[in-house]
Amino acid sequence: MHKIRPHVNCTSKNMKNGTPRPANVRSARARKTNFKVASDGRASRTYFPFRYKAYLDAEISRSDKFSGCGASPSFSLRPNMMKEETARDNTNNSESEKTPQVANDPPEEDIVDPWLVQASSNKGIDYDKLIVKFGSERIDDALLHRFEKVTGHKPHHFLRRGIFFSHRELQKILTLVENGTKFFLYTGRGPSSEAMHLGHLVPFLMTKWLQDVFDVPLVIQMTDDEKFLWRDLDLEDTYRLAYENAKDIIAVGFDINKTFIFSDLDFVNGEFYKNVLRVQKHVTFNQVKGIFGFDESSNIGKIMFPAIQAVPSFSSSFPFIFGDKKDVPCLIPCAIDQDPYFRMTRDVAPKLGFLKPALIHSTFFPALQGANSKMSASDENSSIFLTDTPKQITKKINKYAFSGGKDTEEEHREKGGDCEIDVSYMYLSFFLEDDEELEKIRVQYSSGKMLTGELKARLIEILQELVGGHQERRAAVTDDDVKQFMKRRSLNF
Ligand code: TYM
Repeated sequence: MHKIRPHVNCTSKNMKNGTPRPANVRSARARKTNFKVASDGRASRTYFPFRYKAYLDAEISRSDKFSGCGASPSFSLRPNMMKEETARDNTNNSESEKTPQVANDPPEEDIVDPWLVQASSNKGIDYDKLIVKFGSERIDDALLHRFEKVTGHKPHHFLRRGIFFSHRELQKILTLVENGTKFFLYTGRGPSSEAMHLGHLVPFLMTKWLQDVFDVPLVIQMTDDEKFLWRDLDLEDTYRLAYENAKDIIAVGFDINKTFIFSDLDFVNGEFYKNVLRVQKHVTFNQVKGIFGFDESSNIGKIMFPAIQAVPSFSSSFPFIFGDKKDVPCLIPCAIDQDPYFRMTRDVAPKLGFLKPALIHSTFFPALQGANSKMSASDENSSIFLTDTPKQITKKINKYAFSGGKDTEEEHREKGGDCEIDVSYMYLSFFLEDDEELEKIRVQYSSGKMLTGELKARLIEILQELVGGHQERRAAVTDDDVKQFMKRRSLNF
């Protein structure tokens, strides 16, 4: 494990300008070039600094048990796997958040699944490889151009910057839109902790933007059952957390007339449960073993759970929204860790006469400590939480955000900082919307004109505004609002 010296802002000549970088991280630099913003504001599709790497070793969860469990920690196809899928899974990790973990004994290949993200190399997850292994497709320039043409909207900066980097059948959704056919959005949250972190916000921000652009209904699943089965939490806890987290989700700004949020513990019955049973009948234990790595010691709740995350993809699970329409297409925004669920879903859908859901996948928001470090709900200094005060944000960024700056101001001025490994720069790439300003920061920081302290000061401003705004909106969400969002009802469709 690397020892990371806390960063000291570079404000005077003899002060250190950056946190020392582990050798493994340093070597990652050669691999990528920075992304460029063209005059039309679109990022070029060459490389985004952390598009394929950094934050991944950063986000990793859990328990050592996982790493050591029976299933192979590789992506290699196993004979019993379903067509579209490849991944593996953990079985016994009971208490972990999907948190970064330093791999003392790294796996032979990267592991990315709903419970664990672990890089085989200290350079982090190789997203290029992941696309090949998972069999998804890159969101490339051509697709973004088409997106813009069809919607009349410049793609969201998450798309332009390669933060949402991969997809399944997004073209089909665009074709439907061209033909005037409606679809719906589906995403979710596993309510395992009181406070969500900035990473959790990423798919919800994307989903909100998509809802605005396409003007379509949205269903949001709160998997309180999943977190009960996997974590050391009782049902009362996860159910309560589902409602608490729903407030954060509502605070993102979803349209109440087009959004239905549900807790599995409340909602799994009727047509939804019938679809769960249909999926269960068409997926074997061998198949979920192949996809998720379950084994004979896995509790049987885990073995059946994937069917519950699968069926919100089918419009017939929500008759009060879609009436008797069984063929309303679905688009799922999520980070790529959730893909195994939907590979299974896409394999089983045609057997049931349902449409396969389309997906867009994001990379992972990194831990403050950067590559090879942990972002953990149990370590409050590993990330920025939506409950953090302005003071906490300042302290965390100044003290813990891994720096690509040099050790002294003199050296930094001469050689410049490294945006590819600089967590503050990565965070800006997620949350500073202005392409021009971001590019200016990149150029100035890389050339040594901008110091780490200045970079961090801008990030602190942005995050205080983001988190402060979120907290204000959340405080305004009443129990009655939550009830309304979670009520079975017809949506504007
Ligand atoms: P959960 O609660 O682990 O995560 C909620 C959403 O956040 C994404 N995510 C991240 N995105 C970027 N950076 C990160 N560091 C990061 N960590 C988590 C997840 O991919 C997810 O989109 N089983 C699911 C709940 C669920 C769901 C769904 C998610 C049910 N149905 C449909 C997506 C789509 C879960 O536990 O998510």
